[in-house]
Amino acid sequence: MRKKVKRNWIVPEGATLTDLDRKVLSFQEAGCLVPSRKLIKTPEQIEGIRRSGVVNTGVLDLVAKEIRAGMSTLEIDEMVYDYTVSHGAVPAPLNYEGFPKSVCTSVNEVVCHGIPNEFEILEEGDIINVDVSTILDGYYSDASRMFVIGETTPEKQKLVDVARECLEIGMRAARPFGFVGDIGHAIEAHARKNGFSIVRDLCGHGVGLEFHEEPDVEHFGKKGTGMLLVPGMVFTIEPMVNMGDWRVFVDEEDDWTVVTEDELPSAQWEHTFLMTEDGLEILTY
Ligand code: MF3
Ligand code: CO
Repeated sequence: MRKKVKRNWIVPEGATLTDLDRKVLSFQEAGCLVPSRKLIKTPEQIEGIRRSGVVNTGVLDLVAKEIRAGMSTLEIDEMVYDYTVSHGAVPAPLNYEGFPKSVCTSVNEVVCHGIPNEFEILEEGDIINVDVSTILDGYYSDASRMFVIGETTPEKQKLVDVARECLEIGMRAARPFGFVGDIGHAIEAHARKNGFSIVRDLCGHGVGLEFHEEPDVEHFGKKGTGMLLVPGMVFTIEPMVNMGDWRVFVDEEDDWTVVTEDELPSAQWEHTFLMTEDGLEILTY
């Protein structure tokens, strides 16, 4: 028996079917999970997200220039806040579901959602993920990079490099009218090949009109499964790669900080992408 799939693609009554409608409907009729029509961004929305991405990239470039040993993660937060606000934008994390700061700073064994803190001082050999998300004129963008403080061990450097390759490989695996599962499959294969594991509890996501939209973009999975990828969709890919086991827990003190269970380091890179007629375009360069 064929699994029942939600019929997300609804053409308004009386509207003439476009070529895109016909194509997506044919996938839907074949039993595939397709996006809802509102996940396909208009050219105007794409321009808005692109402009938001320019500010977001400016923030990350500033952090890249300034980050150094001896700096506290709170100083990173202040830099992010000041740059964002002075460019007419708002840091998306600030007060998002109670998150208290403007950026996530995740050092070594912290996987993601680390909260900047004046007592957390960066040291030579640390690896840190700085995850920046921006709202400009109501449009959201989201990207993160790893930074190595000075020089680190070869193992940690390899983790950072492989995590970045995972993002690039995931990006290349995403084709228009392919599936979300194609991305996760490619990413997990690359992590495993290098002796690392992929965090399963957190995923990439649609983004643009809200911080987190459909679909969930898992960084593991099976080719040909999950939601159909349609031109005009905007979403993140943000693989979290662990040196040891994939299991993580959330710090009970702050209810945010995600840490590896085995306390081995973790690395993550993220971009916001637009699906085009011939593959993904990065909106957070
Ligand atoms: N930036 C994260 C992401 O990539 C979300 C952080 S939620 C926050 O989806 F509240 F911690 F900022
Ligand atoms: Co994200």
